[in-house]
Amino acid sequence: MIYSRIAGTGSGLPEKIVTNQDLEKIMDTSDEWIRGRTGIAERRVISNGESTTTLAEVACRKAMEAADVDPSQIDLLVMGTTTPDVVFPSSACLIQKKLGLPDCGAMDVNAACSGFMYALSIADKFIRCGEAKKVLVCGAETLTQLVNWERRDTAVLFGDGAGAVVLEASNEAGILSTHIHANGNYADLLRTDTGVSRGFGDMSHNDYKPEVEMKGNEVFKVAVRTLHRIVEETLGANDLQKSDLDWLIPHQANLRIISATARMLDMSMDNVVVTVDRHGNTSAASVPLALDEAVRDGRIRRGELMLLEAFGGGFTWGSALIRF
Ligand code: ACO
Repeated sequence: MIYSRIAGTGSGLPEKIVTNQDLEKIMDTSDEWIRGRTGIAERRVISNGESTTTLAEVACRKAMEAADVDPSQIDLLVMGTTTPDVVFPSSACLIQKKLGLPDCGAMDVNAACSGFMYALSIADKFIRCGEAKKVLVCGAETLTQLVNWERRDTAVLFGDGAGAVVLEASNEAGILSTHIHANGNYADLLRTDTGVSRGFGDMSHNDYKPEVEMKGNEVFKVAVRTLHRIVEETLGANDLQKSDLDWLIPHQANLRIISATARMLDMSMDNVVVTVDRHGNTSAASVPLALDEAVRDGRIRRGELMLLEAFGGGFTWGSALIRF
């Protein structure tokens, strides 16, 4: 039986930090409101030529270095992003060139905040069926480029970043199972109104404002309910109990959603990796960024059992149960 395991992790973050105090100067908000409702204190925002693919390149290089894998060994690149540099070529193709990967398959997966869970699930299947031995999986986003900085209800939430893992074939189970879902009936609760058919607006005009639109309160309620369901589905599929888990690595949208999932798992917050305070919601990048942080600082150790989960626009949601 062939399984996939995580051989190395990496991340890439913009240099510029935007604090809640910085936002207080440009919109009617407060550090107290943002921290209290979301847990966010600051976020990273791209500048000076940074983009989704420059952040992804850094994350992928670090993941390959940690895995001791050479670019020439990569068989497939799967990239979760909803903020590609351009419509096409795909971000995966642009990163493939930057990294000097061979002529392997390279694809973007757009599942909003669940993009990394989708990408990981696809990569795992390629390895399990013997089509690939080493796969680079990345989640990278620059959602700050899609928010209207005059809208306090959305602008305060998002940040930019990238996280990556190298998955490799193994005789022992690393990834025990992955689960992905979507329900397009909820499309209008969390969306953008820009694109090929809707138009991109005229970016040369100062009044051009691409926007993430979100009915935050309704998204919040569905997110909490849905994450409960997928946690139960994931444990049930592996015949495991909540108490078997060592770590929860959740999507970092809101500390209140993260705490609700931890409570449902009877898990102490000491066993939950939290980065939302410093990164904000980095969409598809948030889970691999959190994973990389906890692996590099030594919290997550080989052999431990971790549950990764995400929920986002679409709606989409996904999870993975992984023996690290
Ligand atoms: N500063 C100050 N006040 C604000 C701000 C702000 N930044 N934003 C909104 N408010 C005000 C509102 O205007 C409202 O005022 P009112 O009562 O006078 O009308 C009040 O605060 C409460 O607003 P709500 O929207 O009800 O606040 P809520 O407690 O729901 O928190 C939040 C909003 C943080 C967005 C929350 O709903 C949330 O986290 N939702 C889920 C987000 C999520 O999980 N997204 C999925 C992933 S994202 C992706 O896929 C791209």
